[in-house]
Amino acid sequence: MTRKLVIDTDPGVDDLMAILLALGSTDLDIVALTTVFGNVPVELATSNALTILEAAGRGDIPVARGADRSMSGAPGRPAFHIHGRFGLGDNPMPRPNGRPVPEDAADLIISRATESPGEITLLAIGPLTNLAEAARRNPVLPGLIDEVVIMGGNAYVPGNATPAAEANILQDPEAADIVFGLSWPVTMVGLDVTNEVVLTPSQIARIAEGDGPVRSMLARAMAGYQRFHEEETPGYRGLCPHDATALCWLLDNASFGSVNRRIRVESEGLGRGKTWPVDVAEPGDGAWSDRPAVTVAVSVQAELVADFICGRLSAAPAG
Ligand code: BDR
Ligand code: CA
Repeated sequence: MTRKLVIDTDPGVDDLMAILLALGSTDLDIVALTTVFGNVPVELATSNALTILEAAGRGDIPVARGADRSMSGAPGRPAFHIHGRFGLGDNPMPRPNGRPVPEDAADLIISRATESPGEITLLAIGPLTNLAEAARRNPVLPGLIDEVVIMGGNAYVPGNATPAAEANILQDPEAADIVFGLSWPVTMVGLDVTNEVVLTPSQIARIAEGDGPVRSMLARAMAGYQRFHEEETPGYRGLCPHDATALCWLLDNASFGSVNRRIRVESEGLGRGKTWPVDVAEPGDGAWSDRPAVTVAVSVQAELVADFICGRLSAAPAG
């Protein structure tokens, strides 16, 4: 059976890879992309989402613009040094022909969930502001959603944005704490597993090979993202497709190991943005006790997943 999927995204090089993987998956029906500030400001995220879909020949999929800042009003901290000046590298992207739909991201999530109760999966690969806002506007939303899969957080490994926090969660810890506390089935595909899945230089070259708008978009975007990874970590070769790995959980969670944890998100001081796990079997103290269980991915067959991503992306239509 095909799953109806809404991807909440801040494209972003690994977002591009996740979106293309999803477009190429016959068991997924992408009903919309919703955008959020994060890797880039939301205007650019929205324009990139439209451009990606048009290059892939899927300009029919609606795009809804979402939050331009965190729930507490803090402006985003774009990651141009990682994803390039234009979010998909340092070259300007072609301007899209299409425009975002009039409703915003939170309203679109609510309307799709209301039209198809129990059928929508949300894949959140940016800060969690739109999801928290949608649930604030419509408190029955969690009961209408099939599953929420999040690329974000770090249970038992250090952060990547700070020693404590992963980038998506750090951009809006308050929203993340709300999303992990709602009564919908949530899976956290965080750095515990996404750091392990690495595309090697030869896999990157294989994906980039060939012509066409999709291929050249991927090639240009991956080049700068690979450079960032290699310059940041001496001895590192390749790149880490965080968001595409989260999509792989949806396609084949047998390649992952997981545990059930209650999650709180730190909002204060040096630890701001840290996702704190507590075993559901433990009583926990007051801060965790009323929290639902979250499925937390903690291990992955990394080479298998990297091979899968490489195989699918190198076979993706050139556009
Ligand atoms: C996450 O942060 C963003 O920079 C990436 O697109 C990914 O969603 C990785 O920490
Ligand atoms: Ca992302």
